[in-house]
Amino acid sequence: MSKKPGRRLLGQNRMLWLLDALERDPGRDQLIEALTRRVRALPLGRVRDVLHGTWLGHPVHPMAIHLPLGSWMSAAVLDLKPGRSRQADLLVALGLTGAVPAAATGLADWAELHREQQRVGLIHAWANTAAVGLYGASLVMRLSGKGAKGRVLGYLGLTAVGVGGLLGGHLAYRQAAGVNHAEEVPHVVSDGWHRVGGVDEFPAGEAVRCVVDDVPVLVVREAGGEVHALAERCSHLAGPLSEGTVADGCVQCPWHGSVFRLSDGWNVTGPATAPQPSFDTRVVDGHVEIRLPTETVPDTPYAGDAFAATSTDGHRPRR
Ligand code: FES
Repeated sequence: MSKKPGRRLLGQNRMLWLLDALERDPGRDQLIEALTRRVRALPLGRVRDVLHGTWLGHPVHPMAIHLPLGSWMSAAVLDLKPGRSRQADLLVALGLTGAVPAAATGLADWAELHREQQRVGLIHAWANTAAVGLYGASLVMRLSGKGAKGRVLGYLGLTAVGVGGLLGGHLAYRQAAGVNHAEEVPHVVSDGWHRVGGVDEFPAGEAVRCVVDDVPVLVVREAGGEVHALAERCSHLAGPLSEGTVADGCVQCPWHGSVFRLSDGWNVTGPATAPQPSFDTRVVDGHVEIRLPTETVPDTPYAGDAFAATSTDGHRPRR
């Protein structure tokens, strides 16, 4: 049963209120669960990571939408100009072709999101599917000589794409789907070495969670004595890596299965498209210490740093 939208907050416009209500509405959750299972069960192998964008370092989907969106917007402009119908038809067809990789990458990402994100993502997908249907019908009309109807259908398709884009923006910028959830770590952890515990507090091969400057850190000591430290919150959607599985020099996130190399944080498999920030480690007087590698310390610190207080251990906090 659908929940009623919550109370509208002071300053919250009606559209934002509706989008927030959409996140909370469990009315389509059974469908979402069934679709998620099916998408995850597809035997895609390494293609799944290609669709996520592990090779690119961020999701492919935002890039993939440029071809359909650009083609259809261009067709809409040409449709305003008499004598340009052939070019507009071609652009509509090009957009339909480009919609295939856009949909494939979006679907792969959608299946690995939080439920609230999936609720918005489903409507985003429906809007874009409607756009594809309208542009498909538009192309049929255009090719059968009914240009006026084709143009009307095209403009309706563009409207549907606009709705899809609005929901996509909400997903990315308000709900943080697809962004790197570990990006802030080098900006938050202060420079220099931080003592995180005695060596005996880190049983060999086990994932241990520590906190440095309020940032959770995963520390793993290998049987040979080597110590690794990564940001503990997964770059995909902030899953707790300390509750994941450590094996073969890697840690696997318990939420969606991304695998990160312990030695340097590299994302070996997705859906995470960004590596985990990793730390230098050393053992001093029987204690494990970690620090940000000097090359990951941001070159352009937050402007307010000039006024920031120096921390008690003499390190200037970064923002
Ligand atoms: S939170 Fe999704 S893979 Fe880690």
